[in-house]
Amino acid sequence: MSTLLIMFITSTSIALQSTTVLGLSFFGNEDSTLNNRPIIGILTQELSYSLNEKYPDNYISYIAASYVKFIEGAGARVVPIWIGKNESYYEDILYKINGVVWPGGSTWFNQSAGYADAGYTIYKIAKRMNKNGDYFPILGICLGFELLTYVVAERCEHRIHCDCSNQSLPLEFNPDYRNSRMFGNTPDNIINILKTKNVTANFHQYCVTKTTLRNAGIQKQFRILSFNHDINNIKFISSLEHVSFPFYGLQFHPEKNLYEWAIKKNIPHGELATKISQYFADFFVDEARKNNHTFENEAEEARKLIYNYPVTYTALKNSSFVQCYLFKSNDTT
Ligand SMILES: *[C@@H]1O[C@H](CO)[C@@H](O)[C@H](O)[C@H]1NC(C)=O
Ligand SMILES: *[C@@H]1O[C@H](CO)[C@@H](O)[C@H](O)[C@H]1NC(C)=O
Ligand SMILES: *[C@@H]1O[C@H](CO)[C@@H](O)[C@H](O)[C@H]1NC(C)=O
Ligand SMILES: *[C@@H]1O[C@H](CO)[C@@H](O)[C@H](O)[C@H]1NC(C)=O
Ligand SMILES: *[C@@H]1O[C@H](CO)[C@@H](O)[C@H](O)[C@H]1NC(C)=O
Ligand SMILES: *[C@@H]1O[C@H](CO)[C@@H](O)[C@H](O)[C@H]1NC(C)=O
Repeated sequence: MSTLLIMFITSTSIALQSTTVLGLSFFGNEDSTLNNRPIIGILTQELSYSLNEKYPDNYISYIAASYVKFIEGAGARVVPIWIGKNESYYEDILYKINGVVWPGGSTWFNQSAGYADAGYTIYKIAKRMNKNGDYFPILGICLGFELLTYVVAERCEHRIHCDCSNQSLPLEFNPDYRNSRMFGNTPDNIINILKTKNVTANFHQYCVTKTTLRNAGIQKQFRILSFNHDINNIKFISSLEHVSFPFYGLQFHPEKNLYEWAIKKNIPHGELATKISQYFADFFVDEARKNNHTFENEAEEARKLIYNYPVTYTALKNSSFVQCYLFKSNDTT
């Protein structure tokens, strides 16, 4: 026992020493001007037809747990953001958190008081915050990527139908992709993996293209970072960022590589696929460390965090999600 304890103490101090040495020589010191306790809001979504069928128990919204783990695995905590609320609710919550994720899924943008209504309100508030000198990031994944271009287009539906619902692909980078926030500082090994390996998991039946952005009049607002081709060779945008604000869109699903295990789906889980996913999570959480929004006190923060809600092992009912947070209306008050 005591030998173990001594070994523990010894190795801990060696570890601390070497971290300090490495810290100084390779990584620089932790930046004390950053917010190292970031909290990310993840937007809930109407239950899909298939989840509703499997859980007919009056749930009104959900978050697939993979998005929560994706954010937690990069050093942030999560609060759910409810759909169907008024503007003052979104205004209030956004000033208390450090960034927003719009997850993928399969809802429509025309559901009343749904995902897209909430997304549009969040977008308008986040845009105003950034214009006023705040640094407030949004990450849209898959349907959330489509939501980003949809709200920037002031709710003009411009997606086209396509078929990319079970493909893992390498990114086809746009020539200027290094002149971006998302890929400007990305290590070369990550870029090489993204460029050459089938590591991005695509599950979408809508695509946003250069032409659709132009038709919606918003091509100048985005920096297109990469393309891909669907099974019918339609060239779609697979990653982009807003030119002026820290708003990011990924048409593929980085969170699935790490946290979703449906066997009938083409989700890459190898070492390289894992690395690139972690890159996107780390990148986004780093963006969220750049503002100091905070709850009024620890008690309020504790009441809002996702830890208050149970998680359901949905893969047991053949959902394509391993686990989901399922919410009832009285959860959302
Ligand atoms: C956040 O707080 C830190 C520590 O107080 C401070 O150094 C930093 O300037 C603040 N950042 C912003 C964007 O206000
Ligand atoms: C908005 O909803 C909140 C509850 O989320 C409520 O307390 C508030 O009164 C509502 N505000 C308006 C302007 O309707
Ligand atoms: C929403 O849009 C879909 C696809 O265009 C359509 O099938 C559906 O009827 C619309 N729903 C409502 C409530 O308008
Ligand atoms: C990626 O997958 C496709 C099939 O979908 C295959 O033709 C191609 O060789 C793969 N590329 C790499 C780099 O593994
Ligand atoms: C998706 O791809 C996986 C792995 O490549 C395959 O096993 C599965 O049958 C495919 N599913 C569909 C619906 O094509
Ligand atoms: C899940 O799918 C398997 C194989 O397709 C089937 O045997 C099983 O009954 C399904 N389970 C549920 C709960 O639907």
